[in-house]
Amino acid sequence: MSTTTDRPALPIRAAVVGSGAISKEHLTFLSGRADTKVAAPIAGRVRLVAVCDLSRVSATYGAREFGADAAYVDLDHMLAAARPDVVHVLTPPHTHMAIATRCLQSGAHVICEKPITPTSADLETLLDVASANGRHLMESHNYRFNRPVTEIKAAIDRGHLGSVREVEIRITLPVTDPTGRFGDPHLLSPIHDLPAGVIHDFTTHFAYLLLHLAQPRALPRVAAAWSNHSENPLFRFDDLDALLIGHNDDGPVHGRLRFDAAGAPDGFLIRVRGTGGWTETDLFQPYNRTVRPRAGGSQLSPIVNHIVNGVSLINDGVRNVGRKLLQQSPYEGLHRMLDETYTCLGAGRPLPVSPAEMLAASKLVDRLLDDGVRL
Ligand SMILES: NC(=O)c1ccc[n+]([C@@H]2O[C@H](COP(=O)([O-])OP(=O)(O)OC[C@H]3O[C@@H](n4cnc5c(N)ncnc54)[C@H](O)[C@@H]3O)[C@@H](O)[C@H]2O)c1
Repeated sequence: MSTTTDRPALPIRAAVVGSGAISKEHLTFLSGRADTKVAAPIAGRVRLVAVCDLSRVSATYGAREFGADAAYVDLDHMLAAARPDVVHVLTPPHTHMAIATRCLQSGAHVICEKPITPTSADLETLLDVASANGRHLMESHNYRFNRPVTEIKAAIDRGHLGSVREVEIRITLPVTDPTGRFGDPHLLSPIHDLPAGVIHDFTTHFAYLLLHLAQPRALPRVAAAWSNHSENPLFRFDDLDALLIGHNDDGPVHGRLRFDAAGAPDGFLIRVRGTGGWTETDLFQPYNRTVRPRAGGSQLSPIVNHIVNGVSLINDGVRNVGRKLLQQSPYEGLHRMLDETYTCLGAGRPLPVSPAEMLAASKLVDRLLDDGVRL
């Protein structure tokens, strides 16, 4: 087994494979256009040497728009000609395994979009390829790096919420909308071919966020209800309601994961409850609201919480207006994750999402999909 001890020379040569929807965010970072409050300037650190896509139009557009050295339609040609140190694999999930394998074998580190592989067994195989070639392999766990999540994690680590007892994550997105990218019957997304269809595409986010915030030592009880409430024949499922029960270092911990396509407005809610208080955010309209016992005892504590939260909600509202005007998306965490990743690569340090974290998330996704836990 090889080790990843060498450091690429600066600037690190980066390439992108797959110039579809999410590539805009990776390319924004790689072209140095990310918000400087989130990511340090890339000049001298990173150079975008290639954009590759099966579609020549997409590759050429991506390369021109984001200032890459060249565009390619053939992966092997790109790997030989551009000699990237790092490849961002941003193609549909069923292609990740083959593309990442070729990139690793060519000597490039790989940053791969989620879900990196269909199963954790496949991920173990891919990690072995990375290890045998002495390269890093990292899956995008981007929402872990969004500011509200880092603030919640810091509050947990400082003990501000006491012992964590429950983590609830709820995504509401109208994925069945026939004018949307998943619901359009005339342009079927390959995401429908995942074992749990479109919702499967979101399960990695659920899994890594739950594990990151609840830090369970074990989750022996898992039950998942997968439904297709809309009865739209394109969809295997449009709704997930899952309950996970286990324990962390301090006691029992519950996880609740919910995806629904019918509610409104769109939302990505995270709520963490502990023995010393609870906190919540919505990653699509970021705010942080925390309720905990305050000075003044049970009589005054709720009022103090209302005032403290009222002020912070107004501040977050103003900040959100600014985000809308600047057209900032919930992908600030992805830019921060990439910034940390390139800093670690340049310094020869382990990457911010470890193989153990990727495997744990992937194994949890396996369990959510297992017929044996279906309600
Ligand atoms: N981390 C996140 O928050 C997030 C958000 C959206 C999408 N994603 C993930 O990113 C991946 C891509 O999603 P997307 O929405 O950008 O998809 P997309 O369909 O918009 O783009 C995929 C691109 O890959 C190209 N492609 C397909 N097969 C290829 C191949 N073999 N070689 C080269 N190019 C190929 C297609 O031509 C297309 O341009 C998926 O795994 C998805 O789950 C992650």
